[in-house]
Amino acid sequence: MNKILRRERLVPNIHVLEVHAPEVAAKCVPGQFVMVMPDEKGERIPLTIGDWDREKGAVTVAFMAVGTTTHKLALMSAGDELPVFVGPLGKPSEIGKFGTVLVAGGCFGIAAIHPIARALKEAGNTVVTLIDVKANYLLYWEDKLRKVSDSFFVSARDHKFGTTHYVQGKIKELLDGGLKADRAVAIGCTYLMYSACEATRAAGIKTTVALNPIMVDGTGMCGACRCAVGGKTKFACVDGPDFDGHAVDWTELFSRRKSYLDDEMKSLCHWERSLLAPGVSGASVALPLSTGGAQLAPGA
Ligand SMILES: Cc1cc2nc3c(=O)[nH]c(=O)nc-3n(C[C@H](O)[C@H](O)[C@H](O)COP(=O)(O)OP(=O)(O)OC[C@H]3O[C@@H](n4cnc5c(N)ncnc54)[C@H](O)[C@@H]3O)c2cc1C
Ligand code: FES
Repeated sequence: MNKILRRERLVPNIHVLEVHAPEVAAKCVPGQFVMVMPDEKGERIPLTIGDWDREKGAVTVAFMAVGTTTHKLALMSAGDELPVFVGPLGKPSEIGKFGTVLVAGGCFGIAAIHPIARALKEAGNTVVTLIDVKANYLLYWEDKLRKVSDSFFVSARDHKFGTTHYVQGKIKELLDGGLKADRAVAIGCTYLMYSACEATRAAGIKTTVALNPIMVDGTGMCGACRCAVGGKTKFACVDGPDFDGHAVDWTELFSRRKSYLDDEMKSLCHWERSLLAPGVSGASVALPLSTGGAQLAPGA
């Protein structure tokens, strides 16, 4: 069991979870993830490590409330225990001295890019961070990201920041304006990663994405996270999650991620009804829609 040290809502649909997990905190590096289960009857889900404190033995993840498991996590509090919080899993992100690196993030990817941007900065790169949010009130971890960035841009559809362009529009604007980028990293919903890759493709800028296929065991045993990269079959949990975005078969990834959508929606409705059923403990708990919003990520 791993004790939750903190669970807070950061913005309407994204929560932060800090967990006491000394073994994970001791070993994790940028780009890795943990498998988490909120209760013994639930499913295991992968969440990217957004930060850690080795002395405290604490690991921080940020998650977007989209379905049953993430809504269950959104109702947990400091002091609660997680039956499963295993990791670190996945291959570390490639960190080196590349020159100027574009680091793009949206929704949960805003937290997921943080350790990568920090390591790239420490390695001597010029880090240009690009954040994509639907609206200004969905921006979080701005201070943490600004600290590890040489330039910091936010795109939001509500005209509250410099641009309303999606992230690919901002990348194009910077490249058209003469920015010479040597590498790019993009993490967020599938559409954000795909479109960031399209924006860097013509300029030949190697772009790493952290793929998010459905995962079950997270250890290469079940095959659920199969994806095609460069014409070869890969398993995101053990061969990734980072891959060269220009080699990913995005059509297949978009389609496989929707495989269980009906079941996922039924599961969420069933769980929400169970919270309101007479006699069920927790019947007075506010529905998760009011704590997080059951929103599916655009393009997910
Ligand atoms: C390596 C990796 C790292 C991830 N990191 C984060 C993170 O840091 N924060 C975050 O909010 N989300 C992250 N995700 C996505 C997260 O795992 C899913 O949103 C979560 O599993 C949804 O579970 P649910 O029961 O709440 O929703 P469900 O009802 O199961 O599904 C809702 C949506 O989530 C997708 N999904 C469902 N199960 C999985 C699964 N096991 N793996 C991936 N996607 C799934 C579905 O395609 C669907 O669109 C990551 C995914 C991967 C593969
Ligand atoms: S999650 Fe089972 S093989 Fe990757």
